Formats: sequence, C-alpha cells, structure tokens
Amino acid sequence: MQEQMIDKFVEMYGGEASTVQTFFAPGRVNLIGEHIDYNGGYVFPCALDFGTYAVVRKREDNKIRFATLNFNLKVELDVQDIIYIEEHNWTNYPKGVIKEFIYKGHKVGGFDILYYGNIPNGSGLSSSASLEVLTAVVINELYDCKEDMVEMVKMSQKAENEFIGVNCGIMDQFAVGMGKLNNAILLDCGTLEYKYASLQLNGYKIVIGNTKKRRGLADSKYNERRAECEYALQCLQKELDINNLCDIDTETFEKNKYLIDKEIERNRAQHAVNENVRVKKAVESLNAGDIITFGKLMDASHKSLRDLYEVTGVELDTMVEEAWKIDGTIGARMTGAGFGGCIVSIVNEQYVDTFIQEVGKNYEARTGLKPEFYVANVGNGAGRLD
Ligand code: GLA
Repeated sequence: MQEQMIDKFVEMYGGEASTVQTFFAPGRVNLIGEHIDYNGGYVFPCALDFGTYAVVRKREDNKIRFATLNFNLKVELDVQDIIYIEEHNWTNYPKGVIKEFIYKGHKVGGFDILYYGNIPNGSGLSSSASLEVLTAVVINELYDCKEDMVEMVKMSQKAENEFIGVNCGIMDQFAVGMGKLNNAILLDCGTLEYKYASLQLNGYKIVIGNTKKRRGLADSKYNERRAECEYALQCLQKELDINNLCDIDTETFEKNKYLIDKEIERNRAQHAVNENVRVKKAVESLNAGDIITFGKLMDASHKSLRDLYEVTGVELDTMVEEAWKIDGTIGARMTGAGFGGCIVSIVNEQYVDTFIQEVGKNYEARTGLKPEFYVANVGNGAGRLD
C-alpha cells in the first residue's frame, strides 16, 4: 500500500519520493462497554489492522494541500485560514486537528498530504477518529510538537466535539491512538487510567459483521442519549455525591433509581450502570481464561442496548439474532454508536466459515441488505510507518 501511495503522491505533487514520510492509524472495534465512555465508565476496545494511511511532505510556505485516494475532493488552503466549511467534507476532520495544535501554541506550517483509508465508511469502526489521530501524529512529527499520544487523543476528541460538532466520548480516539498488537484496552473513561489485556483467544476469532446500514453519528440520536443521561445524573445527584452515572454500583442504583422521575431516562441510567459492571466482569473472565462468560456478557450488553438504551434498530438486532443461532457463537452484540454499522462476535474458529455463510444468508433474506464480514486482527495504535 505504502509504495502505491508514494507513487501517487509523487504523481500528484511532484518532487522526490525519498523526501516523503508515511504514517498509519487503525480503526477500532469495541468489545464491550457501549455508550458509557461519556458516563465515566469502563470500555474495552481494541485497534484493528485496517485503518488510514498518510503520505506527507513538509512545504516551505504556509499552504496545505489535502487529497485522498478514496474521494475526488481535493482542498487547498492556507494554515491561517482554517475554518469549518461544509463543502470541504472529509478534510474538516484533519483541519479541526490542525486547529487544535495551533490553539496550543504550536507553529504549524504548510505540507502536502495524501490519505487513503480502508475502513468501510459509516460502518462504526471509527474512520473519523482514525483520520483525526493520524493527522495529529503527522503534525506532531512534522513540526516537532512533542505532544504525547494521550494528549493527541484528547486533542482529536476536542476537534471532533468542537470543530465537527459531534459530541463523542474519548473511546474511539483512545483506541486508535493507544491500541496494542493482540491486546484490548480496559480504559476507565472517568480517569483515563488504562490497562492492556491479552486477546490471544486460543481457538476463537473476533468476527465483525457490517449490516451495511449506515449510521450517521451527527444526525443520529447520539446527542439525545447524552442529554437523557445528563438528566438522570442530575436527578441522582439530589441525594448522591457523584460526578458520573458509572460512579455507582447496581445496588446503589436500585436503591436510588426512584429519584429519576422519567422512565426513559431511568432506563438509560440503568443501562449505563449495568454495562459498566459487565465490562469489569468481562475483563476478569477473559483474564481468567473464561471466554464463555465473556460471551454471555456481550449478549447481555446487546439486550440492554436494545431494550433499555434503544440504540440498536432492526438491522443490528436481526444480525445479532442470526449470530446467536450459530453453534460456534460464544457472544455477539452491536458495537459503536448503534443505529446501524457493525456487530462484533466471538466465534469458535471452526465455525467461522459457517457463521459468515449462514448469518450472511439469513440476514440478507430478512433485510434485503448484503452484509460484509471481517475476521479481525488486533493491531497497534497510530504511528509512523517508515
Ligand atoms: C461512538 C462515540 C464513542 C462512544 C460510542 C458508544 O463511537 O464516538 O465515544 O460513545 O459511540 O459507545
């Protein structure tokens, strides 16, 4: 991939191939801990081995030229003139990140850059976080900014929140930046403390199923769910000294849930509290070599996202139901924001082909959509390639 991209870069921008630098940032899949990163909970994502590549060369002036092999749109602008422009489409993500470096007082100059991504677009595997963190790593290296990865993760999330206007939590950018080969990350989103956990799943594979129902995060109900959680938290704070919904355990929630006077908001909070408990149990089980319990907790997570949090929808539910029917399925659930995108399953490796065939056939028959499947390889976080 790198070679091809470098050839294209030289064709597009001229100059010597020897003067370019190459970088990569992965996509991510979350194994368990959904919709609780913004509630101060635990999440358990891992980086994938597909993602976004960049070939870049510094310029002597202040001009930035953006291009990608994925779309025709090219954008050229001056470092001083970075503002959100709708027609600038995908380049708004890197623009937002560059702005964050400038806000922090870094002197960013011009560069030519060519991107290429192989994360299926709109699939909920974090193509935007990948593009953001990739750009952060590029700027950091080109202009010797000396930001560490966790800081760049935060800057990327801020760019998405403020420049793009999507109120996402920190999970995606964290997984993309901090991923580790064959490991998942147990991240406490309240404190940003994290631990790696080995994903050497002897005899099992992580299989991702793409429903092909696109999910637009910005126009989905994501911000509405955040507001509902915020309301539930305020109700609980009348009696409890807490900062986040995930600060309490199930027992405390049960005793105090009467404080939340609206049923929907109470359900949202119930999901957050239970999901957080599930993540902790799931990681303990995994570390103890008990993949069966891990899978059962994934199933429970899906049911809670379906019934209490209401972020699944017919496509995700259908695919998960079909996955549950396969003998070799240990666990299956929606992953990411929901309303479309992907499911993630743990499947006995002897059943992976059957899984893909059967779930694919039955899902298509029930929804009319042709799904895609990826057997996930867990990769490293963002960095330089050469
Ligand atoms: C999206 C957001 C994340 C997280 C998930 C749901 O991927 O970007 O911050 O909230 O949804 O778990």
